[in-house]
Amino acid sequence: MTTIDPYTKIHKALRRDMFACLTTLGSLDTSDASAVERARAQVTTLLRDLHSHGEHEDHFLGPVLFEYLPEHAARLAEQHRSLDRGLEALAQRFADEAFSGPEALLAGYRELAAYTAAYLEHLAAEERALPDLAGSEPQVALMAAMAAFGASRSPAEREYSLRQMLPALAHGERLEFLRGFLAAPEPVASAARSIARDVLGDRAWSVIDRELIASAP
Ligand SMILES: [Fe+2]
Repeated sequence: MTTIDPYTKIHKALRRDMFACLTTLGSLDTSDASAVERARAQVTTLLRDLHSHGEHEDHFLGPVLFEYLPEHAARLAEQHRSLDRGLEALAQRFADEAFSGPEALLAGYRELAAYTAAYLEHLAAEERALPDLAGSEPQVALMAAMAAFGASRSPAEREYSLRQMLPALAHGERLEFLRGFLAAPEPVASAARSIARDVLGDRAWSVIDRELIASAP
């Protein structure tokens, strides 16, 4: 049985988004109003995505973890609460003054960098426990949890995930992720193809498309 890994792909996307946001803020000119607006939107999206990611984990994976790894599950749930408090503080800082000038921006940048460090450690702790869930019972429970999560997502949310995750993934992971979308009925499969071409570029997409066709059942 293939091991169910609910973490790696979305965690790669979140790591990419955190570093992209820090890169934006680190080089932002606060006198450039349109650049500031783009940066503000990027921060808002990042904070929203980090919050909803923790919520999804608590709701869909939490019960599986509490069943099979209760101490680990309790630690992660506490980390989610603490990380959420950090998100609220960041949201406040970036809503209030962080874009008002270079010094305020540097303070916000440093706060997001420190938060990123804590978040990275949390993601690593989640992934380190994956081997402890390799037994057949937890694997079946994880499979059911992932199916329930998939069923809870609207078409727009699925397309958003595709755009967010594909660029962050290695070639084999992209293929694996896309196969699920392309096996879906139309118009989902066509929309997935067009999003993949859009975010990966024509050249990368044509390589992936050939492999998907070659390996189609
Ligand atoms: Fe988490």
